[in-house]
Amino acid sequence: MRLKGAVVVITGASSGIGEATALAFAKRKANLVLGARRMEALNAVAQKCRERGAPEVTVRRLDVGLRADARAFVAAALRDHERIDVLVNNAGLGWMGRMHEMPEEKIDELVATNVKGVITTTQAALPSMLERRKGVIINVSSVLGYRAAPYSAVYSATKHAVVGFSHGLRGELSGTGVKVCVVYPASTETEFFNETEAPIGPQYPAWWVANAIVRTARFPRRDVMMLPYRAVHLVEPMFGGLLDHAMGETRRARSPHLAGTNLPQPETTSARPPGAPPASGRS
Ligand SMILES: NC(=O)c1ccc[n+]([C@@H]2O[C@H](COP(=O)([O-])OP(=O)(O)OC[C@H]3O[C@@H](n4cnc5c(N)ncnc54)[C@H](OP(=O)(O)O)[C@@H]3O)[C@@H](O)[C@H]2O)c1
Repeated sequence: MRLKGAVVVITGASSGIGEATALAFAKRKANLVLGARRMEALNAVAQKCRERGAPEVTVRRLDVGLRADARAFVAAALRDHERIDVLVNNAGLGWMGRMHEMPEEKIDELVATNVKGVITTTQAALPSMLERRKGVIINVSSVLGYRAAPYSAVYSATKHAVVGFSHGLRGELSGTGVKVCVVYPASTETEFFNETEAPIGPQYPAWWVANAIVRTARFPRRDVMMLPYRAVHLVEPMFGGLLDHAMGETRRARSPHLAGTNLPQPETTSARPPGAPPASGRS
């Protein structure tokens, strides 16, 4: 796809990978529609995009987890530009910790933002893309979308869901001119880890992922994996079980507070003096 003058819609563009992606498309003179919840940050990104050469940049407050918001965001882009050439579903958040301690609201937020958001914006953009027989949908998953990580079970599940949704839809749309692609970033230096623990291993710059997303828009591919994590993809079918344990051990060694369950220990029978009756129940 030719990016000069193309209409590119990006969710979660107020920081990190979304911001870097907006800047990378701006450099190629694409028109941008940017969405996120923090308007001040979003406006600052929009200004930088204009300075980089984007002819038109519009911003809109978006909570992608709210269906009405997500639909209105896409509808506004279509109203302003009459088409969407590239939709980048990037908005997302993570959480790390022990599953049994994860707050219910966090579970809901992760599922709503990382999964429902992607589905809603895609569904809203599809009719116009199908009518034009043209469009690229790029869904930002994660390496955890094919290699789940301990202490990030829900996040891993949401990113697996993004992959399943994308691949299923890709088959449904074959021959229509509309392409669906998945990008799998590895640990990237962004605000993502402000609220969760740092990842194990190196962190890559956000522009690295952004460049991969721009390349994907130009030359759509089903799966875009970041090196060197492609190797994990190959190892997974044979050593997945081993990796589950090895990653758990590594994480516990690095973050000892995650070891154990933190649950009150049940009273053991040996704590009773010999011959004494149990604390409850019939004697
Ligand atoms: N960083 C990594 O290591 C890494 C690795 C693999 C995959 N990823 C994925 O990459 C994507 C971008 O993350 P990042 O690393 O760039 O982190 P980030 O700097 O925290 O950016 C996340 C973006 O998503 C937006 N967002 C979050 N919740 C939203 C909501 N409900 N509605 C609309 N926008 C929302 C945030 O904007 P507001 O807060 O302003 O709404 C922000 O712009 C995510 O999907 C993440 O899962 C990241």
